[in-house]
Amino acid sequence: YGSELLRNFSIIAHIDHGKSTLADRLLELTGTIQKKSSGKNEQVLDKLKVERERGITVKAQTASMIYNFNGRDHMLNLIDTPGHVDFAWEVSRSLAACQGALLLVDASQGVQAQTISVFHNAKERGLTIIPVLNKIDLPAAQPERITAQMQSTFGIDPEDIIRISAKSGKGVDSILEAIVTRIPPPSGSLAAPLKAFLFDSLYDRYRGVISYELLGDKVASCHTRKKYEVTEVGIMHPEEVPTDSLRAGHVGYIACNMKESSEAHIGDTIHRVGEPVEPLPGFQPAKAMVFAGVFPVDSSDFPKLEESIKRLTLTDRSVTVQRESSSALGQGCRLGFLGTLHMDVFRQRLEDEYDANIIITAPTVPYKLIYRDNKEVFVSNPTEFPETSDTASRVKEIQEPIVKASIIVPEEYFGDMMDLCFSHRAEDLDHRYLDSGTATSARIILTCTIPLSEIVTNFFDQLKSRSSGFASFDYEDAGYKQSDLAKMSFLLNAKPVDALAIIVHRSAQDKIAREWVKKLHKVIPRQLFEVPIQAAIGRKVLARETLSAMRADVTAGLYGGHYERKMKHLENQKEGKRRMKKMGTVDLPQEAFFDILSNK
Ligand code: GTP
Repeated sequence: YGSELLRNFSIIAHIDHGKSTLADRLLELTGTIQKKSSGKNEQVLDKLKVERERGITVKAQTASMIYNFNGRDHMLNLIDTPGHVDFAWEVSRSLAACQGALLLVDASQGVQAQTISVFHNAKERGLTIIPVLNKIDLPAAQPERITAQMQSTFGIDPEDIIRISAKSGKGVDSILEAIVTRIPPPSGSLAAPLKAFLFDSLYDRYRGVISYELLGDKVASCHTRKKYEVTEVGIMHPEEVPTDSLRAGHVGYIACNMKESSEAHIGDTIHRVGEPVEPLPGFQPAKAMVFAGVFPVDSSDFPKLEESIKRLTLTDRSVTVQRESSSALGQGCRLGFLGTLHMDVFRQRLEDEYDANIIITAPTVPYKLIYRDNKEVFVSNPTEFPETSDTASRVKEIQEPIVKASIIVPEEYFGDMMDLCFSHRAEDLDHRYLDSGTATSARIILTCTIPLSEIVTNFFDQLKSRSSGFASFDYEDAGYKQSDLAKMSFLLNAKPVDALAIIVHRSAQDKIAREWVKKLHKVIPRQLFEVPIQAAIGRKVLARETLSAMRADVTAGLYGGHYERKMKHLENQKEGKRRMKKMGTVDLPQEAFFDILSNK
């Protein structure tokens, strides 16, 4: 396919507005996949099990399809993007390979928080935007109203909006036509030397690293200068289909003898050996903003866990990995994630794909410590956070990351959202109406700055439950701000347990101390003697519970927790042999940590 017959596009939308469903219809209409007779909506592009289970797209996928327009076959390359706020980085990565984007809006829900952020992202990259109103089959659809919304929010001409039902397929064919007629073909010359942009990679147990690239024989990386033998090239149609070659503007894959996952750098430029090129502009690496320790339930599993993490990080390059050792939990890894959903998804993938049983510590954001000598240090592990005595003498200022959040919500939930924000230390609250003039169920966009640490725990769940599911949420980095923070330790029999330490804001210290101590009391098995459980900041004890001594045979069912998860890893433990960890004089099974840390 000459480049004039190529179109590279992606579908951008707020979560659940129907990207994957539309992708399926496009693949069916072009005969890339068979139409399912069962009528069941099995999304082809959602490859990972966790995506199917949760119904969200996590990893961007690509697929090529052939569409005949005006008697000529065109190759349309769809680069799918994830919809969740944590994965904004993946979205920009995918957009870097496109010339156009379908902006999908649910006709019953209208413009939502991420609709706005993805729109601006695509706009900034100069992509041609094709506005699409989806779900027009829904009884609750309000196409006229949402059209007006898209016009007022984005300046979109109502004439340009294509109305479809991705579910029934109605109107979807006009999207294919619009892709060909409205989106420009990629620029690129067939005569010029090979220049391929690497935007994703995956590890195949049998074939080594596979890279998805824009385009060979012998290739080299601009980044590492390493050379590779190409063993196969092809396109995703929708699975890997080998082809003779990849040409300018194509989106496809290259299988080569890359041995280590770390050699595939996202944003790298690949060229032919002996024909050096200027590297294409890469993109900002993702910044990990949520950190947590991951430990095997059975300490002897650490090598397996580390290997599993290594493999998974190849398909998810935004995760950072460092080794960590804890006196309570043994050897583990400290992982950095883009957000909590990202962390959750990674954990699930780890459990699904590698059958690993893991304990994950409470999430921490990167704090900034400014010392008296003006040295700045970032700390993302509570164990490295200075004690209060130290803080007073050596640290001049402690800062925490803050974000600019926007929440879109129907007017009647506005008060609840304000309360939620205030209870999470939000500042600079502001709001305006999104739908001007409509008297019934007008929607408000609420903006504020809020500490990142406040939204990494269960903010999103609360937002959803307190707005009956109607609120949508998005945020962006807003730098650092001074804050009154301290390290809270938890002590068993007067000995601090490192894996349980957390960083808290002083205004909430007493409440948090009481809650955690109660929780520990519930899950820690009784010992042969009485055990005091304490929460302390520095030398000051803020809360205490006492675990009474064990009477004979009170060993079973002492702690609660997530039943299925517990069963799953209990099964994997050798019969009757519980691994105990000595914490000072206290015997703790790893499962107790699992329970403490896994139920929020
Ligand atoms: P993420 O990838 O997680 O962001 O979601 P998505 O945008 O891919 O949404 P998905 O395609 O999974 O669709 C979300 C839900 O909307 C599913 O339950 C679909 O069946 C449903 N849906 C999608 N399109 C339509 C439509 O045209 N009409 C109706 N009634 N439902 C639709």
